[in-house]
Amino acid sequence: MTVLPAASLNDPAESFYSHWMALNDWLREHRGFWQPAPFKEPEPPWARQYPDLARLIAKVSDEQCQILEDAPARLAAMVGVQVPSLARYEHLTAVADLRPAASEVSQATLPEVRAADMPGRKRGQSGAFAAAIRPLEQSVLDWCCGKGHLARTLAAVCEEPVQGLEWNAELVREGNRLAVKYGDAVSLQCQDVLAEDLVLPPGFHGVALHACGDLHRGLMRRGSEAGLPRLSVSPCCYHLTDADTYRPMSRRAVSHNGILLCPKVTCALRCGKR
Ligand SMILES: C[S@@+](CC[C@H](N)C(=O)[O-])C[C@H]1O[C@@H](n2cnc3c(N)ncnc32)[C@H](O)[C@@H]1O
Repeated sequence: MTVLPAASLNDPAESFYSHWMALNDWLREHRGFWQPAPFKEPEPPWARQYPDLARLIAKVSDEQCQILEDAPARLAAMVGVQVPSLARYEHLTAVADLRPAASEVSQATLPEVRAADMPGRKRGQSGAFAAAIRPLEQSVLDWCCGKGHLARTLAAVCEEPVQGLEWNAELVREGNRLAVKYGDAVSLQCQDVLAEDLVLPPGFHGVALHACGDLHRGLMRRGSEAGLPRLSVSPCCYHLTDADTYRPMSRRAVSHNGILLCPKVTCALRCGKR
C-alpha cells in the first residue's frame, strides 16, 4: 500500500469520501475476481472471461505466489498487463500518512518494566494507538479492554481516569490487580458491552483496540447515540457479525448509488500480523 503525505489532503472529509467512492466502485466492478471463494471452483467465471490472465496466473509458482501475496502492488502491475483496470489497485489503496513519529510512539509506549503480562506486540500496538490519539482531553472508556493493556497505556498519557469494560471476569480481576500494582488510574468493570441496558458514562472518549466485528460497531453505534464527544477505534475481524452482510455504517456511504454490500464470508480480512 502506498502512503501519501498528509499534506496532500485539501478538504479531508471530501477527499476521503471521493477516494472511498472510487475504491467502492472499483471493487464492485471487479468483484468477479475476489468474491468467489478460492479453491471452491476449479474454473471460476473470471478465468473463462479472461483466458490470457488465467494462463498467466496458472504459471505463477508457489514461491512467487508467496512473494506476490506480500506485495499486492506487484501483483496488480503484473495482472494489469492483461486487464489494465486492475493496475489501478496501487493508486486506489494509497492512503494519507497520518502515523505519529517514531519518537512520539516510543514516548507513549509503556516501558517494559511496567508492561507485565503484556506481549511485545501488544505493548507496541497500544503505544502506537495512544500516540495516534493524543492529546487526550476527556476521561477514557476502553471498550472490550481485556486485561487493560491499552487502558494502562492510555492512563500514563491522560490526566483523567481510564475505565474499561470487559466481560471476562478473570481478565477484569487481573487487569485491576496490575493497575493497583503499578499505581495506574484505571478501573476495569465486568460488563457485556452488547447488553441493550448498558448506559455509557457521559462525556467519555470511547476507545477500542481489536474489538472484533459487532463489538467495534457496537461502540460506534452506542457511542454516537449517547453523544460521546470522541470515539477512536482500531477495528478488526469485520466478518464477526450476526448480520449476513457487511454494511458500511456511514450515512453517506449507505446512500451511495452502487454501494458494495459484502456477504460476511468475504470480509474475513487478515488481522493476524498486520
Ligand atoms: C481481541 S480482544 C482485545 C482486547 C484488548 N482490547 C486488547 O487489545 O488487548 C477482545 C476482547 O473483547 C472481549 N469481549 C468479547 N465480547 C465481549 C462482550 N460482549 N462484552 C465485553 N467484552 C467482550 C473478549 O473477552 C476480549 O478480551
